[in-house]
Amino acid sequence: MDDQDFWNARYAGPDYLYGTEPNSFLAEHAELLTGPVLSLCEGEGRNAVFLARRGLQVLGVDCSETGLRKAQALARSRKVTIETHLADLAEYTPGKMAFGSVISISAHLPGAVRQRLYPRIEKSLKANGIFVLEAYTENQLTKHTGGPKDSDMLMSIDKLRNELPNLNVVLAREIDRLVVEGKGHTGMASVVQFIARKEA
Ligand SMILES: C[S@@+](CC[C@H](N)C(=O)[O-])C[C@H]1O[C@@H](n2cnc3c(N)ncnc32)[C@H](O)[C@@H]1O
Repeated sequence: MDDQDFWNARYAGPDYLYGTEPNSFLAEHAELLTGPVLSLCEGEGRNAVFLARRGLQVLGVDCSETGLRKAQALARSRKVTIETHLADLAEYTPGKMAFGSVISISAHLPGAVRQRLYPRIEKSLKANGIFVLEAYTENQLTKHTGGPKDSDMLMSIDKLRNELPNLNVVLAREIDRLVVEGKGHTGMASVVQFIARKEA
């Protein structure tokens, strides 16, 4: 089963796997974001809809058509508009200088995919553009509260600094925190939180 089939099956039920409320780290820092916003691995739309409700233009990219269909349904129910694009991020190239912000919430990708994508993400940001990420770290491997069981897909401050060398780090921390996000992610979790800005 490839990624797309895997995620379509995960999202097949009527419930929202990670709930319909935004990721709390994103919500806490939402005032930093300017549009348009590119959301990597948007899934079922909770983060895109939250940002759209704050008046931001959002493009959510994901490889699951089931997830993106639910994202559009959530947007309709909250009376906002979001743009969604079905794509494998292993092949996706965002427009240059197209985004005021890029968000990456639990967007776990293999190192080889990040190696191709992240330089493109740097280029896709406008001057002063902001990148916001929360992802599980390797400490999450021993926990059963969500995230992939593959070290290559788990993130750290070091990986982020190395893979996004052209952004200026605003915040970088690895912490354990209580995550409450639907059935998919709930309980104490080990995460990296990272905010970086492209130079003006
Ligand atoms: C853990 S979910 C997170 C969803 C969303 N960011 C959230 O916080 O609710 C991971 C998402 O990554 C997407 N994904 C995984 N691999 C992908 C790839 N290669 N290209 C695009 N999307 C991918 C999945 O379809 C899924 O929606």
